[in-house]
Amino acid sequence: MSLSKDGLPAEQVLDEIRALRAADRPTHGGRLFAYVYDSGLDGLDDLAMAAYGLSAHVNGLDPTAFPSLLAMENTLVGAAAALLGGGSETVGNVTSGGTESLMLAVKAARDGAPGVERPRMVVPQTGHAAFAKAAQYLGVALDLVPVSPSTLRPAAEDVAAAVGPDTVLVACSAPSYAHGVVDPVEEIAAVAAAAGVRCHVDACFGGWTLPYLRRLGADVPPFDFAVPGVTSISVDLHKYAYTPKGVSVLLHRDARLRRPQYFAYAGWPGYSMVNPVISSTRSGGPIAAAYAVLRHIGDSGYLALAARTLAAVRELAAAVSAVDGLRLVAPASSTVVCFTADGFDVFVLADELTARGWHTQPQFAYGELPPSIHLSVTASVAPRVAEFGPDLAAAAWAARAAGPVVLPEISLDRPLPELLGALGFGSGLPERMAPVNALLNAAPPHMREALLVDFLGHLQRPAHFTD
Ligand SMILES: Cc1ncc(COP(=O)(O)O)c(C=O)c1O
Repeated sequence: MSLSKDGLPAEQVLDEIRALRAADRPTHGGRLFAYVYDSGLDGLDDLAMAAYGLSAHVNGLDPTAFPSLLAMENTLVGAAAALLGGGSETVGNVTSGGTESLMLAVKAARDGAPGVERPRMVVPQTGHAAFAKAAQYLGVALDLVPVSPSTLRPAAEDVAAAVGPDTVLVACSAPSYAHGVVDPVEEIAAVAAAAGVRCHVDACFGGWTLPYLRRLGADVPPFDFAVPGVTSISVDLHKYAYTPKGVSVLLHRDARLRRPQYFAYAGWPGYSMVNPVISSTRSGGPIAAAYAVLRHIGDSGYLALAARTLAAVRELAAAVSAVDGLRLVAPASSTVVCFTADGFDVFVLADELTARGWHTQPQFAYGELPPSIHLSVTASVAPRVAEFGPDLAAAAWAARAAGPVVLPEISLDRPLPELLGALGFGSGLPERMAPVNALLNAAPPHMREALLVDFLGHLQRPAHFTD
C-alpha cells in the first residue's frame, strides 16, 4: 500500500510540493529562456489560479451541460481570430497545446482529402517537431523542404517541387521555434493554393506577439488570414498570451475546412461522442484561466508586454554581438535570440551561463547549422537584461579557458546505466551538462532519439509516498 494510512493535513501536503518544486528551474524572474512564458505582471498568477479553480471540475466533454465553457472557448477563439486577420467565416477550437493544434490541423487535412490513399505533407526543415509527431501518429508521410543556411527560410520553388498529387497539407512557421524566423508565408500559401492544397501556418510560438511587434514598428511579413491561401493557423495562448499551460487555439478559415477535424462516434451503447479535439474529458481550468488572463491584460497590456519584450530582445542580441567569438545564427527579428560560438564550445558556454543563473536551451547541430544556444525572450526578461551582457562575456571567457568537452571513452551502444555512469549521472542530473550535450550532438539523430527514449524511460518509474 503506497498511500499514507490516514491522509495528511493540507498544509503538510503543500509543504511537500514546495520542497519538490525547489529543485525546479525558476519559472519566474526572467532568467529561464525556455519552457516558461512569464509576463512579469504582478497579480496575474493569482488571477489565473482563481479562475482556474472556478472551472477546474467543469468538463468540456459536453458543452450543453457546461455552457460556461463553451462561451469562454468561443471567446478565446474569437480573440485569436480577430488578432490574426480572421473574417466572419473563421472558426476554431481551444486545444491543450501547440502539438495538439498541429496534430488536428494534419488530421483535418488528411480526412478532408478522403480520396488520397497515401497522404503526404510538405514542411520546411525548421518546422516544429510536432509535425513529425503528427505524421507518425496519423500515418501521413512527411516531406521536408530544405532551408537556406543563411536565411533559415525555405524557397517557394523547393516547396512547390515537394508538392505532389498525394500532398494534403503544406505547412510553414510564423515564426519558427528554433530561430524565431518567419517563413515566406505569402509565397508558400500561393504554392499551396495553386495546387489546391491546404496551407497551415504554425504561429503557435509567436503568433500572439507578431501583430503587436508589427504595431511597434518591427518588420513583420504577412503571415495570417490576410494572406490568400492560408487555410488554418495555430496560436498558443500558453506562450505569449501568458496564460497557464494547456491552452492553444486552432483556427480554420471556414467551417467546411474544420469539419474533418471532429471525431464523432455513435457505434457503442454509451453516450454518442463528438469531440473537436483529441481529449474527450477536458478540464475547464485552463480555459477559464486563459479567459481571465486575456480579459485582464487587454490589447494595450499586450502591446506594452510586446514593447518590453522587443527591448529585451534587442539588448540581448547586442550583448551577444559584443562578445568576441559569438554570433547570431539569425537576425533577432521576433522574440528569439539564437547564437553560436566560433572557436569554443557552445555547450560549455551554456553550463557557464547556468552557473551564473541564466538557464538557456542548447540546440544540437543540424545539417549545415552549428550547435547553438536558444533564448525564448519574454517580457519578464526586461528588468534583468542589463545583467546578462557582463555575465555572457564572463561565461564566454570561462568557456574559452576551459576548452572543449572531451567526450568520455565510451561507445553509444553500451547499456544505458553504463553510459549514464560515464556521463556523471549519479542519483540526479550531473552538475555539468556539456559532456551529455556533446555526446548527443555527436550521435546521429536516430541514435540520439533512442538514447533519449531510454533515458526518459529510466526516469519514469513508479515511486511511492515515503511516510
Ligand atoms: C512553433 C511551435 N509549434 C508547436 C509547438 C508545440 O507546442 P506545445 O509544446 O505547446 O505542444 C511549439 C512549442 O514550442 C512551437 O514553438
